[in-house]
Amino acid sequence: MADLDDIRDGKNFGLDQEVKSQGFYLKGCNNMGWGMKERMSRIFRPDSGKTVMLAFDHGFIMGPTSGLERIDLTIVPIAKYADCLMGTRGIIRTSIPAELSKPICLRSDAGTSILTELNHNVIIDVEDAIRMNASAMAIMVTAGDPATEAKTFANLYNLVDAGQKYGIPVMGVTAVGKDMARDARYFGLASRMCAENGANIVKTYFCEGFEQIVASCPVPIVIAGGKKLPELEALELAYNAIQAGAAGVDMGRNVFQSDHPAAMIQAVASVVHDGEKPDKAYDLYQTLKSQL
Ligand code: R5P
Repeated sequence: MADLDDIRDGKNFGLDQEVKSQGFYLKGCNNMGWGMKERMSRIFRPDSGKTVMLAFDHGFIMGPTSGLERIDLTIVPIAKYADCLMGTRGIIRTSIPAELSKPICLRSDAGTSILTELNHNVIIDVEDAIRMNASAMAIMVTAGDPATEAKTFANLYNLVDAGQKYGIPVMGVTAVGKDMARDARYFGLASRMCAENGANIVKTYFCEGFEQIVASCPVPIVIAGGKKLPELEALELAYNAIQAGAAGVDMGRNVFQSDHPAAMIQAVASVVHDGEKPDKAYDLYQTLKSQL
């Protein structure tokens, strides 16, 4: 039975203060449910509205590529500098300590490798993403590829259905095929298709005219780093993307294939969160590198 003794009436109702209506700080996310917003806010830092995601899902199509031979030796030591970790369930379960407590963007499609024709993937069971406490699920789409466009977009909207059911955001990853133009027209179309099909985050590539891609995509965009560049060029890439409106990076090779991944990810974070210019961020990289 409820305790009826000493029930104290409330008296601090703050009648002189309006209850503020709360907007949400990320583009296109105001109408999300609470759980989804909470997960987005674990990925995108509320103070900057941006994220440094560390991508290390490459092995699921290409095996133990350079920098990912031993996740325990290369990724785990730098994971603390990332805002979010993007990987497959197999690598995260076996090699990422749960007590790191970093939000996970779970690679959620699988099925083909670089040895065959890519992108005939299927999606994982959303219950496994829930078991892993995923903050987001990532899935690749191949706009413009006659063999796999319909299949990969069906994967996307099926994953969005599952994500909506359980409050888990979905990140659409725009693939680049060898026959596809790497320009604003193509990435703009692919990014918009992701958002139109319900993706809550889009991952695409930086290119000339990136502002237009951002303007016409109603959800936050993060950029992939792409193939390994000299560190200063990678920092320029990140800077240009952020200045053009990107909400962060989801970078892999330019971090874990750097000579000094810990210094590099911190330099990238200074560009993303503090708007540091590339030469200053490169100075930071050199300083941190000399301390390691
Ligand atoms: C691509 O499907 C994967 O999601 C990679 O994680 C992504 O391309 C980011 O890695 P990188 O910066 O090495 O391009």
